Amino acid sequence: MLDLTPDKKLLDPIETASRDEIEALQVKRLKWSLAHSYENVAFYKQSFDAAGVHPDDIKSMADLAKFPFTVKSDLRDNYPFGMFAVPREKVVRVHASSGTTGKPTVVGYTQNDINTWADVMARSIRASGGRTGDIAHIAYGYGLFTGGLGAHYGAEKLGCTVVPISGGMTERQVTLIEDFRPDIIMVTPSYMLSILDEFNARGIDPRQSSLKVGIFGAEPWTNAMRAEIEQAFDMHAVDIYGLSEVMGPGVANECVETKDGLHIWEDHFYPEIIDPETGELLADGEEGELVFTSLTKEAFPIIRYRTRDLTRLLPGTARSMRRMEKITGRSDDMMIIRGVNVFPTQIEEQLLKVEALSAHYQIVLSRKNRMDLMTIHCEVLPGCESGTTRQACAKELASHIKGVVGISVQVDVAQPGGAPRSVGKAQRVLDKREE
Ligand code: DLL
Repeated sequence: MLDLTPDKKLLDPIETASRDEIEALQVKRLKWSLAHSYENVAFYKQSFDAAGVHPDDIKSMADLAKFPFTVKSDLRDNYPFGMFAVPREKVVRVHASSGTTGKPTVVGYTQNDINTWADVMARSIRASGGRTGDIAHIAYGYGLFTGGLGAHYGAEKLGCTVVPISGGMTERQVTLIEDFRPDIIMVTPSYMLSILDEFNARGIDPRQSSLKVGIFGAEPWTNAMRAEIEQAFDMHAVDIYGLSEVMGPGVANECVETKDGLHIWEDHFYPEIIDPETGELLADGEEGELVFTSLTKEAFPIIRYRTRDLTRLLPGTARSMRRMEKITGRSDDMMIIRGVNVFPTQIEEQLLKVEALSAHYQIVLSRKNRMDLMTIHCEVLPGCESGTTRQACAKELASHIKGVVGISVQVDVAQPGGAPRSVGKAQRVLDKREE
């Protein structure tokens, strides 16, 4: 693979600033963000007052821990525009979460917010190995979801030629990759696998494609999946993280030269890790729930937002800003199977060890005689269709999972194409226990 390490001269100065410089900027910005929220959003005034804290209490970043958390239901309670801190006319864009349960969460951006977002997204693409002049194929969904438009504005800001194809129509994705010869692809890792299938179905060697780097996020994926995709396409696979409540894609991104976790763009988004049970602040290095405070957002400031994503904070490497480890999963996605806590990423790691299996999978939970059952639906690669191979795969996967994760599972190995496909965020778990 090509060495895509960016020249240090191309980086924003803050990316290589000292920790002292970063913290001085953070404290200044935090004071502004808390005061802005307190003065302009009724919810924050009420919640700070109830906790007996005031924006003037901030002397250092550690003081933030005295402030109350914000959770998803607070945003829903203020649907649609109640969390905005500027008059609605100053909001130039809204996005919204799909909201599988109840009302969606609506977020808003001023023109300055859109500019900041484009800046952090451009920084993310550059960290991934993208450059001015590259062609960027954007297959994240466009629309209320932040993926497509977020990536789009960042790529334009960096000076890329953008192909705004959005998600879906997999055949056309491959045609345009072949015809336009993009350098960069931005897409969910699970949908990248469907694009890979289409390359193979057409007999086109994906390793000969023009792609140099894929910037993958919006869902958890493992280092084993990274290896799978890098090998298949002979390109770099880099992790991008974000969430609509905090901004969208570009809150944190891996550096292509290290691929050792995602640098959080701490000049705009301040991270903390808490114990998800007690809410207690945890030290860097300890695993828990990620909490974010925005430092510069105007329309939709967010204070100590509980993301439900589980990870830990690590010191900076390729950049001065701290890293977060690849997300293990969301606390909502944690399955408890006969007393053992399991995340889909743990199953993915084991699945990718079995050579004859493709990387497509879905986990189905069911209940029989009051016992929870986990069934893994997966499929063999073309050329491995025989009954004996499929049985051997099922046995091997079940035994890896028993050995490493500690639970007994059923494995259903289909023929190639038999496991569910994704066009955006994959639905890794189908819970049929309540049906
Ligand atoms: O998924 C924003 C995004 C778009 C990020 C494109 C990266 C690329 P939401 O739809 O609000 O926003 O979903 C946010 O997705 O809390 C995580 O649970 C999950 N997520 C996002 N990126 C990653 C990642 C976008 N790299 C939720 N690894 C977050 C694991 C991720 N989970």
